Amino acid sequence: MSMIMLLLLFNLMLTASYEFEYFQMVQQWAPTFCSGIGVTCKVQPPQNKFTIHGLWPSNFSNAKLICSGGDLQQNKLPHRLSTKLKKHWPNLKCGNDFDFWRYEWRKHGRCSNPPLNPNQYLHTTIRMYLNYDLLGMLNAAGLSPSTTFRQYTYMENVLKNAIGAVPSLRCNVNSQSNEDQLYEIVICFEENSTNLIDCTYAPGNCPDWFVW
Ligand SMILES: *[C@@H]1O[C@H](CO)[C@@H](O)[C@H](O)[C@H]1NC(C)=O
Ligand SMILES: *[C@@H]1O[C@H](CO)[C@@H](O)[C@H](O)[C@H]1NC(C)=O
Repeated sequence: MSMIMLLLLFNLMLTASYEFEYFQMVQQWAPTFCSGIGVTCKVQPPQNKFTIHGLWPSNFSNAKLICSGGDLQQNKLPHRLSTKLKKHWPNLKCGNDFDFWRYEWRKHGRCSNPPLNPNQYLHTTIRMYLNYDLLGMLNAAGLSPSTTFRQYTYMENVLKNAIGAVPSLRCNVNSQSNEDQLYEIVICFEENSTNLIDCTYAPGNCPDWFVW
């Protein structure tokens, strides 16, 4: 076999070796998350902040990934990491923060192992979050949270221009006003967790107009 063929084969093995094909990095807007139907949050009123919901290894086909493997262990989290996690990945509902991280790891995170072990998964999520300050980007474009109706394509374009890839906007329904409101923004990354890609395979569910 020629060297080229060996290299090609090796490359194929590398790219086909994971359970997933890309990442959805999901952030939630605390106020609208908490005012959604059926949600009770422990801190009222919640901060005007995007916080981490989770990092979801995903397939382009939207196939549900079934993952197995080790658990997250509280006593294995370095202090500096858990301090960051508490700040940026809080459990907004009742229940402690660690339980939320462990839930996300069990449901999604394990599918990213390999290549990411539990602590690498948590670190990667924090890095993605800190690298893309969604609120700062929206503010820079003159958008700040209010009860104003926004147009999907407008807000999508503002973020697309800022990050260079199409995000997905997800809405829930406000328990008092019954209006559709933006409560999650998803940005997508390639399998190698550094390059952004369009979230084409995980489309948003907001209507053309919604409140944020
Ligand atoms: C997702 O895609 C990967 C890579 O193609 C594949 O190995 C895996 O079986 C897929 N998972 C599902 C549930 O389809
Ligand atoms: C991630 O993948 C992209 C495209 O496949 C490549 O340009 C980039 O250098 C990769 N980054 C790393 C850290 O491997």
